[in-house]
Amino acid sequence: MNIIDIIDKKRNKEELTKEEYEFAFSGFLKKEVKDYQMSSLLMAICINGMSDQEVFDLTDIFIKSGEVLDLSGVEGVKVDKHSTGGVGDKTTLIIAPIVASLGIKVPKMSGRGLGLTGGTIDKLESIPGFKVALTKEELIKELNEIGMVICSQTDSLVPLDKAVYALRDVTGTVNSIPLIAVSIMSKKIASGADKILIDIKCGDGALIKDERSAKELKDLMIRIGNVYEKEVRCLVSDMNVPLGVCVGNALEVAEAVELLDGKVRNNLYDLCVDIASNMVSMGKNISIIDARDEVIEAINNKKALEKFYQFVTYQGGRIDDMTISENKMEIKSTKKGLITDINALIVSKVSNSLGSGRSTIEDVIDHGVGVFLNKQIGDTVNVGDTLCTLYYNQVDNNFNITEAFTIEEQEEKKETN
Ligand code: URA
Repeated sequence: MNIIDIIDKKRNKEELTKEEYEFAFSGFLKKEVKDYQMSSLLMAICINGMSDQEVFDLTDIFIKSGEVLDLSGVEGVKVDKHSTGGVGDKTTLIIAPIVASLGIKVPKMSGRGLGLTGGTIDKLESIPGFKVALTKEELIKELNEIGMVICSQTDSLVPLDKAVYALRDVTGTVNSIPLIAVSIMSKKIASGADKILIDIKCGDGALIKDERSAKELKDLMIRIGNVYEKEVRCLVSDMNVPLGVCVGNALEVAEAVELLDGKVRNNLYDLCVDIASNMVSMGKNISIIDARDEVIEAINNKKALEKFYQFVTYQGGRIDDMTISENKMEIKSTKKGLITDINALIVSKVSNSLGSGRSTIEDVIDHGVGVFLNKQIGDTVNVGDTLCTLYYNQVDNNFNITEAFTIEEQEEKKETN
């Protein structure tokens, strides 16, 4: 077998066999296939797509490239969640304690952020002392003792995805529905949960920009789940505006706590209730309506908040020591009118330029910086009102964040006598 013939075959829109995928991808992991050859094959896949059989074969090769976590030592139903990543997406921090407080086990391995969206692990590292790297034994012990865990993905889990994703990220080949499905589902299946909920973000601030692609990804991931006899549910959620009011690591942890304390009712609250209800419905085999009642009750009676504190303490975190930068800059409106849009992409770029994100994996994150949105869509503003507050340590900001806000001037109502 020859890698050039395999690339040629895919370029000619032909289906590849499992043996050919094995040769190319396992060869890449062993460094027998070069980066430039894999890039070329990935681009051919991006352009010409993959059949279902090819997707199933490649998912299997990805899973078998590493260890598959055996959670049979954990009692009860294990339900995992995954989000395709969005601006201000701190949903895992909120949902996992809600669902665990209702008796369902939540084993969640998360990643670090790269590009415009922060990773859950980076957010948790805003909490002094919080330990993100756990051994398999520690993970199983924590699941049995407190019902949830959020930790970083171990290197032994789907190493092929790590290697391929790093290359996709720098070769314009992230945006392929079959490759995204293989990447997500291989990690979820290798993580050992019984049931999986996937939140597909769709919009300007997300990887998936339109509803049609979101539906295609959803159907494909459900079909992969069927092959492994795992129940998979997918929600498609809006990512045109930031989720909640905080973007930036410590700010987002603080917002998650506020929500679990029952003080937040916005798009973040609605999405968290939706995702958690689906997970509880899957975990307990009950209707969404019943699950929703339980989820809302877990927030209202503070059981979910207690679970969050228990989890943070269990993993060594000292939440009271978490800090947000003391340097604040209030950004004022130069217009009077109604806010009709807040662009998630611009907000995330500004937050990243303040230091809350990375552009390369080596970059060091400043956990205390970010953006707080003082105004929401639907609010009216006057000239001089604060639109948002930047928390910074160094200002190196080429973006004008006021551009993120679309403010439509409203006609003055004429006084009639
Ligand atoms: N998230 C993943 O884990 N993989 C992708 O390819 C895209 C989003």
